[in-house]
Amino acid sequence: MTNAFGLKLKLGDITTEVVDVIVNAANPGLLGGGGVDGAIHAAGGPEILAECQERKRELPGGQLPRGQAVATTGGRLPARWVVHTAGPIWSPEEDRSDVLASCYRESLRVAADLGAETVAFPAISAGVYGWPLDDAARIALDSVRDAPRGTVSEVRFVLFGQQAFDAFQRAAAH
Ligand code: APR
Repeated sequence: MTNAFGLKLKLGDITTEVVDVIVNAANPGLLGGGGVDGAIHAAGGPEILAECQERKRELPGGQLPRGQAVATTGGRLPARWVVHTAGPIWSPEEDRSDVLASCYRESLRVAADLGAETVAFPAISAGVYGWPLDDAARIALDSVRDAPRGTVSEVRFVLFGQQAFDAFQRAAAH
């Protein structure tokens, strides 16, 4: 499915995507982790973590604020760069939707600043951070649709499981 913004949904492992930028669902410490963070560091190699340390040194308190994004090399990945963003942790009490939307907007801004034309996103916050899939998909698609495009001509959402893929397909149909 492709729309005006060149929005594509794919089922698979984001680390194999041949795009300019792969977005990583990281944590504020930029230390690597499990989920897609772990997959990206495992496939991309140590250069990525080394550059994460550099970005950390440039950040106040060495922490990436949730909703913001920084770029590193893609290392051994087919992608030229990785844009790391720290998603919000789901909370039934507090609405953190704006922070999640900011992850997509800021990642696109950082990608466009690099001159990227193609960007692949995972379902940010929809794993360890517990965000319900349908709402995560709605926020992902709405924020990318509304974001300034810059040089980015194609955005792919790469979903790791059928459940996530179906949730994004339902959201894309609206
Ligand atoms: N390719 C694409 N998507 C993937 C992959 C992969 N190789 N591996 C996992 N995913 C999916 C998950 O199934 C989920 O739908 O990425 C989505 C985001 O899940 P997480 O990776 O758990 O990320 P998030 O929920 O944002 O939690 C981030 O988890 O791994 C740690 O260091 C990370 O602390 C951070 C937290």
